[in-house]
Amino acid sequence: MYARRTARAVRQMVVNHGWAAAMRTAGDRLRQRLRRASSQPSDPTTWLPTAEHAFDRQYGVDTSGLVWGVDLKTGSPSDPWNTAYYGIGPSVFHHVMAQVPASLQRTATFIDLGCGKGRAVLLASEYPFAQVTGVEIAPQLHRIAVENVARYTAARMAEERGHLARTDLAPMRVLLEDAANYRFPSGPLVVYLYHPFCRPVLEKVLRNLGRSLAEEPRDAAVIYINHELRDALDRAPYLQQAWSATVEMDVSDRLADRIGSSMEDCALYLTRQQN
Ligand SMILES: C[S@@+](CC[C@H](N)C(=O)[O-])C[C@H]1O[C@@H](n2cnc3c(N)ncnc32)[C@H](O)[C@@H]1O
Repeated sequence: MYARRTARAVRQMVVNHGWAAAMRTAGDRLRQRLRRASSQPSDPTTWLPTAEHAFDRQYGVDTSGLVWGVDLKTGSPSDPWNTAYYGIGPSVFHHVMAQVPASLQRTATFIDLGCGKGRAVLLASEYPFAQVTGVEIAPQLHRIAVENVARYTAARMAEERGHLARTDLAPMRVLLEDAANYRFPSGPLVVYLYHPFCRPVLEKVLRNLGRSLAEEPRDAAVIYINHELRDALDRAPYLQQAWSATVEMDVSDRLADRIGSSMEDCALYLTRQQN
């Protein structure tokens, strides 16, 4: 029974991430099972092989760790296409945000599809967005993200010793929802994707976004980090790539990142009428 379940999980990992990650997962699952056998409590959000990021220590939040998609079952048809939870390196996030037109930063709703524990939501609240929205499918991560929003707001206000009003951070909210069914709000958009799901869900999201922009033509940007499936965005008739680069992480991001790479492939797309 265990062998059959592990084989199924490894097969899904190969489809979503390739062989190297699948082998690592098989090893992790075996280690996890051995730990369980020695009666230690096991929780996929705590056994993970990455270090706590300095960002978490600074603001008293919990956004670190790696949880593979196979360990985030919710019963949704989108489950098999969940890549993993892993928080974006803040240095990479701010580098990419510097490429987003200032007019969008001032007026848009920032939407993180697949927000996990909400690290990018917290980082985006430092920009003058009209609204920052996270959408997460996994209830255990959504719960942590909601808690993180409260903790981060309190920590930022304490840090500024009363000089920071709640209104200096963009308003944040985190929804428990499948991104494949998400309806985009009215007004300008910055849609943010940190390779959250594989092609079937990504294509559905892009179709929904295209439909929304056809119904209400408006300025929008799509940020895609770790852009393994960027051909899907290249083919979207309403988008045009505006920028792309391999971004090097700073030291604090590298120290927390045990997955192996110190760089992220990033791209920014804008709706065609903006170019
Ligand atoms: C790589 S993490 C990105 C975390 C966050 N966006 C950040 O940048 O720090 C991807 C997240 O997408 C979520 N996810 C995957 N499929 C999803 C779906 N169909 N709907 C909503 N969330 C999904 C996963 O559960 C995971 O938390």
